Amino acid sequence: MPSSEFEQEPQQFERLQKVLARAGIGSRRVCEKLIVEQRVTVNGEIPELGEKVDPETSQIEVDGLKIGVRQDLVYYLLNKPIGVITTSKDPQERSTVVDLVPTHPRVFPVGRLDADTEGLILMTNDGDLAHYLTHPSFGIEKEYLVQVEVKPSRNAIRQLRQGVELDDGLTAPARVSLVEERLIKIAIHEGRNRQVRRMCESIGHPVIRLVRSRIGPIVDRSLHPGSFRELTNHELRSIRKILLKDFSD
Ligand code: URA
Repeated sequence: MPSSEFEQEPQQFERLQKVLARAGIGSRRVCEKLIVEQRVTVNGEIPELGEKVDPETSQIEVDGLKIGVRQDLVYYLLNKPIGVITTSKDPQERSTVVDLVPTHPRVFPVGRLDADTEGLILMTNDGDLAHYLTHPSFGIEKEYLVQVEVKPSRNAIRQLRQGVELDDGLTAPARVSLVEERLIKIAIHEGRNRQVRRMCESIGHPVIRLVRSRIGPIVDRSLHPGSFRELTNHELRSIRKILLKDFSD
């Protein structure tokens, strides 16, 4: 017989619903419901309600989506200034987005913005969430404010909305509106290289200034260029909600 010392669960074991709630899935009540509905798996198995898991090592999925539950996961929202590049290391030693956030734990940018693009970018060490946020099949919309030189015609706006032919194919339908005389708002869920610049160029409106103003449900008009903050639990939950589509809080 093992001694009682060995029968005790290691300290880091926690109830599954608590772990899921902390990861931004929803309230504990919602998480309990998901477990009862057998929409959650732990290491590939369907758990009992009340089961305890080790957040450091357990592979947890909800509706087949991997959910990062490790305690060291961090999610930053950075307002990238012009001139800073979106790679982890630049051979030319230019300033990178990684230089603007804490070094421990090490995080990486979710997707990319051109050096001459400003605005919101997420930084995290949660590889699964990063994958879901950048994969077009999850349809996370990114919104951009685009300054152009002259007022685009209605027809130009319509073309952007319907899709324009680029050298890597037709762009998907986009949400496009004219905010001011020379300021367009474009929301897309594809992430092709220099896509917004190329879309605007293709209709005869080269971009003067490009700012990413929204990532899915995440906006922040008071975050100064070069500053970052952690995502709130509410924001993380709103992202999960879009990815998981049909669970309600
Ligand atoms: N589209 C672009 O053209 N550039 C970016 O940085 C982001 C989207």
